[in-house]
Amino acid sequence: MSKKRYLVTGALPYSNGRLHVGHIAGAYLPADIYVRFLRACGHDVLFICGSDDNGVAALKTAREENLPVEELTAKYNESQRRAFEGLGIHFDVYGGTHQPRYTSTHEQLSQDFFRKIHDQGLFVKKRTSQLYDEQAGQFLPDRFVKGHCHHCGSANAYGDQCESCGQAIDPLLLVNPISTLTGTRPQPRDTVHWYMQLGRLQGRLQQWLESKRNNWRTGVINFALGQIEVGLPERAMTRDLHWGVSVPLDDPDAAGKVLYVWFDAPIGYVSFTAQLLQDRGGSPVDYAHYWKDPDCRIVHFIGEDNTIFHAITWPAMLLATHDSDSIQGLKGEYQLPHEVVANNFLNIKFSGKEEEKISKSRGTAIWIEDYLQQFDPDPLRYYLTAIAPESARTAYDPDDFYHRNNSELLATLGNFYNRTLTFAARYLDNKVPEASQQQALEDQQLNHCRSAPQQIAAELERCRFKSALALVMELARSGNVYFDARQPWKSRKDNLVDCATTINICLQTCRTLTTLMTPFLPFSAEKCAQMLQLPADYSRWSSANDWLPPGHLLGVAEILYRKLEPPAET
Ligand code: 2FM
Ligand code: ZN
Repeated sequence: MSKKRYLVTGALPYSNGRLHVGHIAGAYLPADIYVRFLRACGHDVLFICGSDDNGVAALKTAREENLPVEELTAKYNESQRRAFEGLGIHFDVYGGTHQPRYTSTHEQLSQDFFRKIHDQGLFVKKRTSQLYDEQAGQFLPDRFVKGHCHHCGSANAYGDQCESCGQAIDPLLLVNPISTLTGTRPQPRDTVHWYMQLGRLQGRLQQWLESKRNNWRTGVINFALGQIEVGLPERAMTRDLHWGVSVPLDDPDAAGKVLYVWFDAPIGYVSFTAQLLQDRGGSPVDYAHYWKDPDCRIVHFIGEDNTIFHAITWPAMLLATHDSDSIQGLKGEYQLPHEVVANNFLNIKFSGKEEEKISKSRGTAIWIEDYLQQFDPDPLRYYLTAIAPESARTAYDPDDFYHRNNSELLATLGNFYNRTLTFAARYLDNKVPEASQQQALEDQQLNHCRSAPQQIAAELERCRFKSALALVMELARSGNVYFDARQPWKSRKDNLVDCATTINICLQTCRTLTTLMTPFLPFSAEKCAQMLQLPADYSRWSSANDWLPPGHLLGVAEILYRKLEPPAET
């Protein structure tokens, strides 16, 4: 496989709350698995994330928590950073669109984008009516107003997007709008904004999206092409707010206005890259090496509600900065995403209750900070990948979490390592024995080890993480079946040569598994590498079949997974 350059992003979480299992399953864990896999294959990867600090979400929570918005976003930026680290999700940079270290680069790049699109004549300045809260004395953009969706009728629509159908909302069309600031009914009032004429880019967007039809998940591609089919509207890219990136125009109408948070948020991917590379000693334009070079693949991992912004609006912004009509490929122009990988939402299913949405207010969230106080990270990484909502919504079921930990991770994977390594320690001087009696079963097991890296890689390349993990588990399961079939606890008494062969094959299977589990279960893989005394580059994909030589001294056998019990009912 030739070495390529990748820039992988995780959707920037709003810095107005802690992270729960739904966030992790939606975007960050699959992104981390993908990045670990790409690195294991020797590719050059930057993994970018950070908090989405601007806009209404943070302002609203700052009011609720009675904190200055800068303090609120700093607090949650830090809490999110810790949660990610605790789960082994290591970004090259965890920035923040309004965190002091990143603000100036972010503001500069965001304003450059806005000016460039403005210069291309793709904005139209319009005076329109917007919802205004007389009591609060302000306009009500985005999440400051709630109502019934004008597409699907659900009561869960905000001024920017409907929580139920994911469609963009025109706040003036919301049915029964209510201010989330004061609970009053807002009234329309005139204001000026800059609208991006997305329709003028739709032909190019469609052509580009069509080229992705066979490679992207169907949910993403169908949704995006569906939007184009009904026609892309003009979308306001500015807001009446005092928190965000100011509108960079020398126009009295621009005073007191900021860029729409969904305009500046994806630019955060670029600005954090730029800041990271400068912090590593590079120049302010080094980010172009990733963002403007067609040899680099840009892959965005997102949750389903972000699809419209990553598959339509953001590519439109990237296209709109191009000076020519070319779709992609010109040096010096921003690259369109190579892939947008969206997971569906993760619901939650408590015992004896209906499956429901994860909700902070209803107390149905499982917070990462709380999880990490009780458990190791890998059981959650395992469970969230095994139930990943890759093509439909799935549900986190706490009982199922315990069950799968005990019956799969512990009973299959942990048990296979444990029985193999303790056997070698007890009866074979803790060394890899000779495999001198290889027969059909041995060939079969080694062939499984030989084919697994390629098969699993094929799934991971297509972002099919759930089935990739299932293949890893299948190899562990086959190891157990082989161990049982060969019964080394018997052969050790009457045929030491056979016994040695069996344990050799099991150890080779462990060797292969250690590399293949690394993207999914990095903490376990590290322990396994120590138990097998592997070299430091054990995660290199091409090392998966580097067989352990006879006589190789093993490390200390450790228990990989604990049995987990649900807390006793009180
Ligand atoms: O849905 C969200 O949590 C948004 N803050 C995601 C932003 S992704 C990006 F474009 F920055
Ligand atoms: Zn709707």
